Amino acid sequence: MSRIIELIDKLEREHILPKSELVEIISGHTPETDEYLFEKARAVREKIYGKDVYMRGLVEFTNYCKNDCLYCGIRRSAKGAERYRLTEEQILECCETGHELGFRTFVLQGGEDVFYTDDKIVSIVTKIKEKFPDCAVTLSIGEKSRESYEKFRNAGADRYLLRHETANSEHYSKLHPKELSLENRMRCLADLKELGFQTGCGFMVGSPYQTAENLAEDLLYIYDLKPHMVGIGPFVPHHDTPFAEEKQGSLETTLLLLGMIRLILPNVLLPATTALGTIHPKGREMGILAGANVVMPNLSPKDVRKKYLLYDNKICTGDEAAECIACLGRRMESVGYKLVSARGDFIVDS
Ligand code: SAM
Ligand code: FES
Repeated sequence: MSRIIELIDKLEREHILPKSELVEIISGHTPETDEYLFEKARAVREKIYGKDVYMRGLVEFTNYCKNDCLYCGIRRSAKGAERYRLTEEQILECCETGHELGFRTFVLQGGEDVFYTDDKIVSIVTKIKEKFPDCAVTLSIGEKSRESYEKFRNAGADRYLLRHETANSEHYSKLHPKELSLENRMRCLADLKELGFQTGCGFMVGSPYQTAENLAEDLLYIYDLKPHMVGIGPFVPHHDTPFAEEKQGSLETTLLLLGMIRLILPNVLLPATTALGTIHPKGREMGILAGANVVMPNLSPKDVRKKYLLYDNKICTGDEAAECIACLGRRMESVGYKLVSARGDFIVDS
């Protein structure tokens, strides 16, 4: 039996490996060992979540951002970005459309925009929960104080997505300006978990300067934190950033990591991301076949979609919400899975 197969078996049994063995898989995997891993990952996810794929309606409500992350197309120094904000009414309209289409989770995502004070976010969350009590609200609005997170939680927000981006502080400092630190990012994630949010961390695959060791460190961090969700997708360059000329992340490595994360945290909610669909026409289907169980179609109004351009060539920027969901439904069926209308909460082992 090949060494990599042996290590995949061990990962399935023990859910984590020493860093050196994680690096061995990341550096030595082949298409054959990938198939072996993905089969195991599918079996694990099907035991818990069956063939269901949960959908989350993404509302990209602002592309203003006070941060300057070097990879990001809506960073504050991206002068070409045409900035927009949605009003509370517009956000509620997106949810209304989404609810009619069967969405039971709304993800409010945006840059770190000081215009949306804690009170404004609390008001938006409260109104969505009043209007759609059967729905989960996920926030993805960056680093805040514990007090702010607590206000959002008390207003009824159920989940929070905050990718850690990389678990290595030296690598973190190559991707972010000085004022941002991995330490604070991790503090946020610990606070979110303690406050009872279903919490999601995650990272980009193939971000500039990333090594196989860094990816192994991401996996070790994920194992320790035990988040409910993990968002990973390939890094894709954006023309208006310092990383414009960097190479995009690889499809194969992203799929490999999806499969490994499924074995590390069997119950995790794991999206096949839009970035994955951007680097390959069948990227999201392949993500599902590698162990993912969530997709996040766009519910933002059509006229702002092209403005929330985190990276170049982002897909689904020209469709109506209804077209997006019909297309994704067909895509999931084409690989034997089923897009379902459910809140899709994290399942805790009984
Ligand atoms: N401001 C919030 C935050 O920081 O969590 C949410 C918005 S931020 C744009 C969402 C995620 O997009 C980031 O966590 C990052 O991983 C991803 N992202 C940004 N630029 C990207 C790029 N060029 N390629 C792939 N993903 C990117
Ligand atoms: Fe703020 Fe990307 S730099 S959302």
